[in-house]
Amino acid sequence: MGSMEEKLDEQLLILYASQTGNAMDAAERLGREAERRGCPSVSVLSIDEFQPSDLPNKEAVIFVVSTTGQGDNPDSMKGFWRFLLQKNLTRDWLKGVHYAVFGLGDSSYQKYNFVAKKLDKRLSDLGAMAIIERGLGDDQHPSGYEGALDPWMSALWNMLYLKNHKLLPNGSEFVAPDATLIDQPRVRIIYHDAEEGVPPLSTSTDLKYLETQIEMARSMTPGKFSGKNRPDCFLKMTKNHLLSRADSGKDVRHLEFEAVSSSIDYEVGDVLEVLPGQNPAAVDAFIQRCNLNPESYITVQPRDKENHGFLNPSLFPVKLKSFVELTMDVASASPKRYFFEVMSYFAIAEHEKERLQYFASPEGRDDLYKYNQKERRTVLEVLEDFPSVQMPFEWLVQLVPPLKTRAFSISSSHSAHPNQVHLTVSVVSWTTPYKRTRAGLCSSWLASLDPQQRVFIPAWFNKGSLPPPPPSLPLILVGPGTGCAPFHGFVEERALQSKKVPTAPVLFFFGCRNEKDDFLYKDFWLSHSEKNGVLSEDKGGGFYVAFSRDQPKKVYVQHKMRENSEKIWSLLTQGASVYVAGSANKMPSDVLSAFEEIVSKESGVPKEAALRWIRTLEKAGKYHVEAWS
Ligand code: 2AM
Repeated sequence: MGSMEEKLDEQLLILYASQTGNAMDAAERLGREAERRGCPSVSVLSIDEFQPSDLPNKEAVIFVVSTTGQGDNPDSMKGFWRFLLQKNLTRDWLKGVHYAVFGLGDSSYQKYNFVAKKLDKRLSDLGAMAIIERGLGDDQHPSGYEGALDPWMSALWNMLYLKNHKLLPNGSEFVAPDATLIDQPRVRIIYHDAEEGVPPLSTSTDLKYLETQIEMARSMTPGKFSGKNRPDCFLKMTKNHLLSRADSGKDVRHLEFEAVSSSIDYEVGDVLEVLPGQNPAAVDAFIQRCNLNPESYITVQPRDKENHGFLNPSLFPVKLKSFVELTMDVASASPKRYFFEVMSYFAIAEHEKERLQYFASPEGRDDLYKYNQKERRTVLEVLEDFPSVQMPFEWLVQLVPPLKTRAFSISSSHSAHPNQVHLTVSVVSWTTPYKRTRAGLCSSWLASLDPQQRVFIPAWFNKGSLPPPPPSLPLILVGPGTGCAPFHGFVEERALQSKKVPTAPVLFFFGCRNEKDDFLYKDFWLSHSEKNGVLSEDKGGGFYVAFSRDQPKKVYVQHKMRENSEKIWSLLTQGASVYVAGSANKMPSDVLSAFEEIVSKESGVPKEAALRWIRTLEKAGKYHVEAWS
């Protein structure tokens, strides 16, 4: 690596591309630690706030980037990446720029940390010099991405210090949290009179009011929420029906909703995002614990803008209680390590302060992981465990994990059910090492709703990775467990289409544990497999189900695929598209291997050639995967 002293710029620029806020957290932590090491100027920016043409003028740039979906860039990085790919950029465009890349990803996905890897390569191809080897954070690591971030960060400080003392005058040693070093919270809260809090548009209906409250509350904390702040519509549940056998150990629901505000619009294969409701008692307990007035009206503004009036005139005040309810996950997600560090500043009892400081230190990392993530300790529980801490609301707004929407594959066809949308939801629950039962916030909330109640569910419609297939396209569908959801919609849609036009064959491989317990939508699949049905053999398709636990040895969808390899190959040669959906664990890569084997066996080419052939399918937009964890 060349000397970094040639350029006089002593600024450390940290750019993050975050989809759910983790990359932003990691980038801010890097920024804080650089400041504590005396870095004279640190700037932490979302990558879309940075002008990419300025890159050659920078001395040292640290990138923290997440990989989302199937190896996709976060939305905020799309423009930057397009810029970087321009053909007219020369091989020495970034000569003299020093960079480091840290990626956040999940190794259960095939394209693990793809965005970080391709960014690293592109920067180096453009002549930039890596300060250290890229770091890759993995959600599957026992301590999450921080497991890789900590050692990577130490190495980064060491290298930066060695190469440019001006950037890190205090050296690379860890600086313990110290009250004199407390940062300022990023946001400021402004309290308003109650009358001010009623936005003029809101008086027409309850729903309009709720919509504005959601939009305003989410708009006030930029960076925490991806996607649109205003919901596309509100839904009301009309059916909540158990699909799995009661007492089977699985709780899978068929849920139906209808739109109550605007009309809805979606295609099969789309994804519905739902903002879950929080337990009202937990919200009240949190507000009380923090000595807040639930009835007050607030706006939240960035602190760095010296403006005491309304920074953004389109923001209306929101009731404090609604703000907490709609944006702060107080009773489900676990706080991050920095939350413990900031708590330590505000602890009055000495023993609490010590314990919190220990948790925030590198030595305490494993114990913090056991106490916090592994037990899925909630913000409310943590605050109750450290009763002497009085954290200002500004800090809580900044550090309590955001209340995120949850995405579900839509299981209905809109043409078959106008103004309705259906979901297939597996209710998530597990036991922690200390035998506490924890449940997934959104799935258990949805399952608890009674269609008789008037509960309005804020919802967004989005494109997923399964494009709607035209009727003439032969299909090979693989969807074990709730992976069958989008294909339920596909089959409904095709059944309607087949009344009007000739439709191509559909082959569907489904898998579940036992025939008796979780054969989801059994009658539906069987009836469409009958003569002339969408899945019928006489139409060239078929329906095959693997019961994994009905015999001593596991049988998975891949086994059923191999048994039907001739049929699969025949459809592939007719131009079929492949769709795979379900749990991200190992299923998508196991299914890919099965396809590889089948193509190799049936076409007589070696495995590597078969894989290349499948990759061309993928490139041609004929192999789609929607996976979730
Ligand atoms: P198991 O739980 O008995 O292992 C839906 O979850 C179905 O997918 C279950 O029958 C589950 O089986 C099965 N499954 C688990 N891992 C899988 C994999 N790697 N490939 C295909 N199916 C899998």
